[in-house]
Amino acid sequence: MKPDFQKAVDALKKDGVVAFPTETVYGLGARLFSPEGIRKIYRVKGRPADNPLIVHISDLRQLELLAEDISEPAKKLIRKFWPGPLTFVFKKTRLVPKTVTAGLETVAIRMPRHPVARKLIEAVGEPIAAPSANRSGRPSGTQFEDVLKELKGRADFLLSGGAAQLGLESTVLDVTRIPFQILRPGSITLEQLRKIFPKVQVHSKVHGKISRKGAAPSPGMKHRHYQPACKVVLVDTVQWKESLARWIKTKQMIGTLSFSRSAAAKSSNLVYAKSFSNENDYARSLYHSFFEAERKCVDVLLIETRPEKGLGLAIMDRLKRAGA
Ligand code: TXA
Ligand code: MG
Repeated sequence: MKPDFQKAVDALKKDGVVAFPTETVYGLGARLFSPEGIRKIYRVKGRPADNPLIVHISDLRQLELLAEDISEPAKKLIRKFWPGPLTFVFKKTRLVPKTVTAGLETVAIRMPRHPVARKLIEAVGEPIAAPSANRSGRPSGTQFEDVLKELKGRADFLLSGGAAQLGLESTVLDVTRIPFQILRPGSITLEQLRKIFPKVQVHSKVHGKISRKGAAPSPGMKHRHYQPACKVVLVDTVQWKESLARWIKTKQMIGTLSFSRSAAAKSSNLVYAKSFSNENDYARSLYHSFFEAERKCVDVLLIETRPEKGLGLAIMDRLKRAGA
């Protein structure tokens, strides 16, 4: 076993919190049955106490201990998409601590695909509860340097594992009701799910504007998310050129994230210009670009929008929240 991996295992066993790689984004984990570790996750992140965590498992036997009433259709999706970036919301068993579910009777569970994440769960011998590795409200860490910047000195150990392959958080699917509902779009798309169950829906709050009032089906929906230190402005492809020219005239430090185009305008106050070659690349690099733009002291980050289909639905969900 590599020394760093062993340090991560030791820290978890001692009720600590550890950042670790997954294929979506880095997680900030504690042992599911360590009340102290779970409390520490909320403290380190500054996470609102009403926002529950995702439980990460490495073995289907763990699922049986944690979730009740798993329907045949849900099992079908598990067989198809696990291990991978799909999180299910199930009715919880009594074994799942209420602190992890923020008092809810349901629990979110995911079996990650990343080998390091899986081995970590196996090595500590119990599921790991983990939100994304970032301070609450900030962009998620998808590269180790970003995790370091956000969490160094706050977590007990940060386990490096390179760049996350997918870059956006998992799809959260509520399977406690029929038809199944997507509470958070992610790498597994609506289209992929509908190929198996045509009636899968996207919860209305995913498309709608972000409300801090009223009951949100997924507590995470009502909180601030993914926000870099710069002002975020979403720009339609057809308005891109005109909008960029207008912002450059303001003399503020401008950054751009755009799709399949060269940096365009040259100007001394255009200090960061990133172009994505396709949607996977967009998803994979989005949060890291936020951190890069901050490092370049960008005041205003112009971001080209995408059609809300396929991976574009998840990208736009994050962009709208980043700009909220
Ligand atoms: O890809 C991911 O899902 C990453 C990696 C680390 O696995 N994790 C992640 O965790 O994104 P977090 O805490 O940032 O997001 C968890 C989301 C939140 O929006 C939360 O409200 C929702 O899942 N959630 C958790 N438990 C829930 C439940 N019982 N019912 C509804 N939503 C729930
Ligand atoms: Mg998060």
